[in-house]
Amino acid sequence: MSERKLVLSKEAIDRRVQELGSTITRDYAGANLLAIGVLNGAFMFMADLVREIKLDLQIDFVRLSSYGMSTTSGGEIRLSKDVELDIRDRDILIVEDIVDTGLTLAFLHNYLQERGARTVRTCALIDKKERREVGVAIEYVGFEVKKGFLVGYGLDCREQYRQYGEVFLLKEI
Ligand code: IMP
Ligand code: MG
Repeated sequence: MSERKLVLSKEAIDRRVQELGSTITRDYAGANLLAIGVLNGAFMFMADLVREIKLDLQIDFVRLSSYGMSTTSGGEIRLSKDVELDIRDRDILIVEDIVDTGLTLAFLHNYLQERGARTVRTCALIDKKERREVGVAIEYVGFEVKKGFLVGYGLDCREQYRQYGEVFLLKEI
């Protein structure tokens, strides 16, 4: 990896994931919970988070692609892998790695709502407000990070670094 700075240690992530899991366990008692992870970035967070949710739940994944100017608004988003379970009348928890502009989450939230979900909430490991373009509700936030490009714990830079158990600020040199 090029020069890097540790931002979230394994201990910090573990502790926070446990707290999020307890809160979600409390909030979703009696619900019809379906956790939907956003591939590829959320795979590691999802795996750790669901182990801390002490409720019956189901798991599915989606994958989204954005076209056009990917770093600015107006990039068209589409599902390149759809949900496979029936989402009607389900209480859906979107599990995201990081929310940046908010465009991906806004699209997915709207899509799930339109498909007849009973409730849709989001749990994001990282809320990065630097480039937020659309207002999105994130009910469960692991960490707020002001800015910078982060990698590790599922987060990538050109499909690399996903396998690290900690989150780093990537400084290209
Ligand atoms: P948004 O639509 O701009 O909110 O983008 C969200 C997606 O962009 C995330 O799910 C990530 O896949 C990717 N992304 C945004 N910021 C970062 C980052 O700092 N590191 C790695 N991926 C990021
Ligand atoms: Mg992602």
